[in-house]
Amino acid sequence: MHLKKLTLYDFKNYEEAHFTFDNKVNCFLGKNGVGKTNILDGIYYLGFTKSALNGVDAQNIRHGKNQFIVKGQFSRNNQSAEVICSYAIGSKKIIREDGNDTKKLSDHIGRYPIVLVAPNDIELIWGGSELRRKFFDSLIAQLDKNYLEHLIIYTNQLKQRNSLLKFSADRRLDYDLLETYDQRLIHSGNYIHQKRAAFITSFLPLFKDHYAFLSGEAEEEVDIEYKSDCTDQDFGVMLKNSIKRDVILQRTSVGIHRDDFVFTLGAFELKRIGSQGQQKSFLIGLKLAEFQSIENVKKIKPLLLLDDIFDKLDDERIHKLVALVVDGTFGQLFITDARPDRSRKLLEDANVDAELFLIDAGKLVEV
Ligand SMILES: Nc1ncnc2c1ncn2[C@@H]1O[C@H](COP(=O)(O)OP(=O)(O)OP(=O)(O)O)[C@@H](O)[C@H]1O
Ligand SMILES: [Mg+2]
Repeated sequence: MHLKKLTLYDFKNYEEAHFTFDNKVNCFLGKNGVGKTNILDGIYYLGFTKSALNGVDAQNIRHGKNQFIVKGQFSRNNQSAEVICSYAIGSKKIIREDGNDTKKLSDHIGRYPIVLVAPNDIELIWGGSELRRKFFDSLIAQLDKNYLEHLIIYTNQLKQRNSLLKFSADRRLDYDLLETYDQRLIHSGNYIHQKRAAFITSFLPLFKDHYAFLSGEAEEEVDIEYKSDCTDQDFGVMLKNSIKRDVILQRTSVGIHRDDFVFTLGAFELKRIGSQGQQKSFLIGLKLAEFQSIENVKKIKPLLLLDDIFDKLDDERIHKLVALVVDGTFGQLFITDARPDRSRKLLEDANVDAELFLIDAGKLVEV
């Protein structure tokens, strides 16, 4: 899949900007704060119907204006498609595909697959388990529509069950109602658990391969361990056994909402011992494996957005990364770099014919 053209109207710091892209490598260069990441975010909107950075749509409208429009011309399965995402204050966000409004935004997600590698991904390593669950959930949901349905059911039932537990502090616990919630929790919880476990099994070899390639077989053994209450025990039995504790805590203390994916380097947790470069390589490995998982299922190469990826990687790792691009493992690529000379040289050294866009204060100054 390729993005051939992109137009931004009143999107973040762009009043109006038109881009025509190369099928392989596109590089946005310019000083800090000029709007390089904003272009990637515009592309991200076309795939995910939301920003990767700011969840409040209104804040992505150019200051002082009341609507943004992001327009993309794609080529997918050799067919051309136009996707428009627009948002006006006080109205519903619109996704329009070839002139037709999409009824449910969630139906759109995954149709134009995109993988973004960004500096704040580091939170996946440093942050709490919720972020890692979100990463894998969003990935699995793109590949399996039922998964999203079960996640929604589970989250909803969990909320209701927790309110019931809170409510029972001053009244008798309504066991019939609890049983209804539990049955639904068990059904969806088991589905989610089984999918997460199966997904990690297929994801791990892809991830390890990419990491090994990037690190040049530097004897760095990486792993992801899926940890879940439900791995060795029956979820239904656990819920029953924990009811006394749940009433005291006023929340559900077992279940897949507590799952974690533990990242390790050697025998230790990555966040404790990994160097910055190792952590960055780990993240890139995760994202490249995400790319492949999507490609394997959808038979479409996602767009790959690499935001400031060259920082913190040593030259050897950068060259390996560029090599993957050159050999066609990836499809179309969008890179940002605040150091134009570095990118120019890297691409030249690798003999990559890239389209360079020089950005200054929300304007394209040179093509
Ligand atoms: N809604 C908005 N309206 C106007 N300007 C905005 C809006 N949102 C963000 N900006 C501006 O966009 C700029 C940041 O753009 P961006 O993050 O794309 O920069 P960058 O080129 O990626 O910089 P860096 O090299 O530091 O990563 C800031 O100057 C910010 O004020
Ligand atoms: Mg940036």
